[in-house]
This record gives sequence, structure tokens and C-alpha cells, in this order.
Amino acid sequence: MEEEMAKLDRLKLIGQMGVGISHEFRNSITTVRGFIQMLSGRSELSQIKEYFDIMIEEIDRSDSIITEFLALSKNKALILKKDNINTCINRIFPMIHAGAYNDGKDIKLELSNVPDIDLDESALRQLLINLTRNAIEASPLNGTVTIKTYYEDEEVVLQIKDEGKGIEETILKEIGTPFFTTKESGTGMGLVICYSIAERHNAKITIDTGLNGTSFYVRFNSGDR
Ligand SMILES: Nc1ncnc2c1ncn2[C@@H]1O[C@H](COP(=O)(O)OP(=O)(O)OP(=O)(O)O)[C@@H](O)[C@H]1O
Ligand SMILES: [Mg+2]
Repeated sequence: MEEEMAKLDRLKLIGQMGVGISHEFRNSITTVRGFIQMLSGRSELSQIKEYFDIMIEEIDRSDSIITEFLALSKNKALILKKDNINTCINRIFPMIHAGAYNDGKDIKLELSNVPDIDLDESALRQLLINLTRNAIEASPLNGTVTIKTYYEDEEVVLQIKDEGKGIEETILKEIGTPFFTTKESGTGMGLVICYSIAERHNAKITIDTGLNGTSFYVRFNSGDR
């Protein structure tokens, strides 16, 4: 028991150090980015503008990895309140819809009546954004992503369904591993964060995938059990 506690303390310390280092690191790359941007505007350097653009892109990529890491390590206890998942989805839907539209994809809601459950709205938003973003990215042009809710076996189920090509077995095994990504500009942290948010809601994520698309299910215990 004592050993376990010591291990946990060490983990916490490493987490806190990580947060500290990330902050400092981010401050310094932001400065570098500023200078690169300034230089890339100089006419005498226009020949190598391409390189500046690549540098800025890479810095932005590092920055988004740090952003996601910080979001994850803010393992702040969630503030769970009895709420209806449909209400939360409806509130954030316009933003998700706009994102899909910009990408040439469609997104629709199929929400059925479900009981209230313990939710942290801001964490749920993040979960929804990450799962729908993956679904939109996996969809063909003009494809439709569906956000569904229903009640089954005393669980409130959130389903995000896409019409993509599905996830191959080898990739499926790696999913949820930090920094695992198949996308050129992905960080591979989206699903890691989803799993962490689900866990803190006592919810389970399951995946159903095939050649006609993929569904991610988040199953929340409704507390009726
Ligand atoms: N709906 C989906 N359809 C097909 N593949 C998916 C789907 N969702 C996730 N994946 C696969 O899982 C990988 C990991 O997803 P995750 O969201 O963690 O990271 P990412 O989308 O690559 O990057 P990030 O979310 O950090 O921008 C993706 O790169 C992709 O290969
Ligand atoms: Mg993602």
C-alpha cells in the first residue's frame, strides 16, 4: 500500500514537472515563431519563404501537442452534475456543424429521450469534439456523420457514426496509445483524451468498425443499476 502511494506520488510529480516544462517550452517556441514570422515577411528572404512556412507549421504542430498534453494532465477532478446529455449536445452542435460544413461533410443528430446522468459539460464537449472531428476526417466528401443517443441496458449511449472506410485491425490495436496517429498533421492525442474523459465519467468506449464506416460508442452508467 505504501509502495503504491509512493508510486502515485512520483507519477504526480512527473506530471507536474511535465506541465511546468511544457509551459516554459511553449513560451520559448512562441518567441521563435514570432521571429520566423517577422523574417518570412522580408523581401530579401522571399526565396526561402517556403522554409519559413515549414518551420512555422512544425512549431504549430508542437504547440498543439503541448496543448493536448496540458489538457490531459489537467487531470483536475471533473465537476460532475446531473444533466441531460442531449441538452449538452444541442448546445455545442452549431460549432461542430460549422466545422463539418467547412470540410464539405454533413452532420446530423438523432437524439432520443434519455435519463439525466452525471456529466462534466466542458469535458463532454471535448470528448464530442474529438470524436466528431475523427469521424469527419474519416468521412468521404459529402459523407454524413451521425451523433446518436439512446437508452439501452440501463446505460445512456452516445454513438458517433461515420461513413469512412473503417479502421484496420493493426491500427485498431494501437488506438488510444499516446501519440499514435496515421494523419500527417495529427497529434495522436485525441482518443487518449477521450478515454481519459470517459474513464472519469465511469463510462466505457467501444468501437464497431467495418468497410462501411465506424461507430464509436460511449456508454454511461445511468445509475439505475
Ligand atoms: N472514425 C475513425 N475512422 C477511421 N480511423 C479513425 C477514426 N477515429 C480514429 N481513427 C484512427 O485512430 C488514430 C488516432 O486517433 P486520434 O484522434 O487519437 O489522433 P488523430 O486524429 O490522428 O490526431 P488528433 O486527434 O490528435 O488531431 C487516427 O490517426 C486514425 O488512424
Ligand atoms: Mg483525432
